[in-house]
Amino acid sequence: MCGHTHTHDHGAFGFLVDVPEIRALIDETTRQMSLVADHAERVERLKPAFAKLLAAREWLPEQFAKPDTESGMGGGIGQYALYRAEDGSLCLFSLVVPADVSTPVHDHLAWGLVGLYDGEQNETVYRRLDDGSDPARAELEVTKRQALKPGDFYALLPPTDDIHYVKTSSKTSSISIHLLANDTACVWRHRFDPDAGTVTAFRSGYSNASCAEGATA
Ligand SMILES: [Fe+2]
Repeated sequence: MCGHTHTHDHGAFGFLVDVPEIRALIDETTRQMSLVADHAERVERLKPAFAKLLAAREWLPEQFAKPDTESGMGGGIGQYALYRAEDGSLCLFSLVVPADVSTPVHDHLAWGLVGLYDGEQNETVYRRLDDGSDPARAELEVTKRQALKPGDFYALLPPTDDIHYVKTSSKTSSISIHLLANDTACVWRHRFDPDAGTVTAFRSGYSNASCAEGATA
């Protein structure tokens, strides 16, 4: 959330990390967004470019590859914007989850690709059983559990498989790279408590960039 004592680049959009590896993926993504209307087909076409970024080394700055003790996600989880489209249509960010830490169960509300860059994670995916008519309640059931190692990635195509949490299973922090068709950390999403059956509004915020004025939590 906002209000961190460390430096925020207020209103930072565009390439917050301007390196050829990131430009190549963003260029290909915007190209496919103009060419392909179907989300599933577009995501399929983007897989090679996304795999290439995950396989490349030395492009992620050290300060965006470490935990954030003042995290809006909790648990020291760092979420660092690498690219943000000014119109909120696309973003790329790194997520750094310390050893043994889990994210909240959350949704994303946009299509995209998520993959492991360093460390290892276990992902647990849920399906919603209720009709969503009560904004405070959700009945979830686990549909999938998978272990992810560097280079592994998966697609997000809401509403399918859009609710999950990840836990770092390596002794070091896991670093995952997220390409999503919204300004993920600044949009209001949901966090879920599967045992209690509850939903709450959730906005994670970036560790290195503020959300728009007037939209703060
Ligand atoms: Fe996620």
